[in-house]
Amino acid sequence: MKNKVFISVISSAVIAFAMTGCSNPSQVTAAASPSYSQAGIHTGFKDNFMIGTALSADAILEKNHSTLNLVKREFNAVTAENVMKWELIHPKPNVYDFKAPDRLVDFAEQNNLFLVGHTLVWHHQRPDWIFENRNGSKVSREILLNRMEEHINTVAGRYQNRIDAWDVVNEALNDDGSLRESLWYEIIGEDYIEQAFIMAAKAAPKAKLYYNDYNLFEPAKREGAIKLIKNLQEKGIRIDGIGLQGHYGLYYPDLNQLENSIKAFAELDIDIFISELDITVLPLPNGENQGADISLDIKIEDKLNPYPNQLPSVVQAKLAERYQEIFAVFNKYKSSINRVTLWGISDANTWRNDWPVKGRTDYPLLFDRAMNKKSFVASLPLAE
Ligand code: G3I
Repeated sequence: MKNKVFISVISSAVIAFAMTGCSNPSQVTAAASPSYSQAGIHTGFKDNFMIGTALSADAILEKNHSTLNLVKREFNAVTAENVMKWELIHPKPNVYDFKAPDRLVDFAEQNNLFLVGHTLVWHHQRPDWIFENRNGSKVSREILLNRMEEHINTVAGRYQNRIDAWDVVNEALNDDGSLRESLWYEIIGEDYIEQAFIMAAKAAPKAKLYYNDYNLFEPAKREGAIKLIKNLQEKGIRIDGIGLQGHYGLYYPDLNQLENSIKAFAELDIDIFISELDITVLPLPNGENQGADISLDIKIEDKLNPYPNQLPSVVQAKLAERYQEIFAVFNKYKSSINRVTLWGISDANTWRNDWPVKGRTDYPLLFDRAMNKKSFVASLPLAE
């Protein structure tokens, strides 16, 4: 019965959506139910999981607070999109910039939002000096471990009772499940992940400690992550959860693969959450690049940017349907999933506009470019 209601709700939403002809992103207006719209997206999921968003520096530091007002109405969890990454929070030795991070922590605290610090150890968005001696040669394992510890103590330690969870290590795996040969790996060795979790547990004993990565629906990568987590658990090193990033498209991931990953991670007795959800409607160059490998930089071509002014209503409807079916999977595993975080607020400021091709117009989030909630959002929580 429930399924029938669900299918009918989806079909009506999708048909209504397609029939409006409302294809200009700025014309896609608020959700159908005014009370739901006022109550915020997270209230619709209150029995399932938290609903979060990622905040940019602009949003955090915005003078008129209109974005922050929307965030506290619509979401009950927030993640630092960039401002806590090493490159920004610790750009030079002994130089830290806590302006935006402090504001974010205050904002989350004042509004009772679950706050995720992102991220302590990552191969990307970090300054080169971390790995270099004064003469440019690579530092020793011991020096790099000291730098890692000083960074984690200073950053995670500063917010130790105020940040609820840290993405301690980000994207340490290749798509085949092997360890990425980052400078962390090359200089310290494969125990750099263990060391980071040990240091984070000391610096922020009350924060949840997470591993975060993309493409974890792929069986080989899933197995690599399971191995990584089990290794920590067998050594008695605390790891509290795994973030499945969720940078998806209209035709990937395969939903059975996604379900299989959720089920497999649930057996490890840790938190599972979707940490960076967005759904691109744009074509993938060469049909590849399903993940978030930021080293890719492909030149723009018209055929790769088919909707520069507006999204055709048929594609809007497909996006609505895709969000519905993906949330149906999350809702099915609500007892295992504790949070679903969208990677950004609106289509205007998503990283998807610049990856894997710079300067495109994408439509991957729940709010359009005019900050209006997309109409299909209202029916997402009904999916069971
Ligand atoms: O801060 C500079 C600013 O000073 C300058 O004016 C501007 C000009 O382009 O660039 C700004 O830096 C950009 C930064 O975002 C802040 O907007 C960088 O160029 C840009 O590369 C950076 O992109 C971020 C990306 O991580 C970097 O890899 C995205 O915003 C952010 O959404 C994205 O997030 C990652 C997660 O952390 C990990 N998982 C994948 C996800 C998507 O790539």
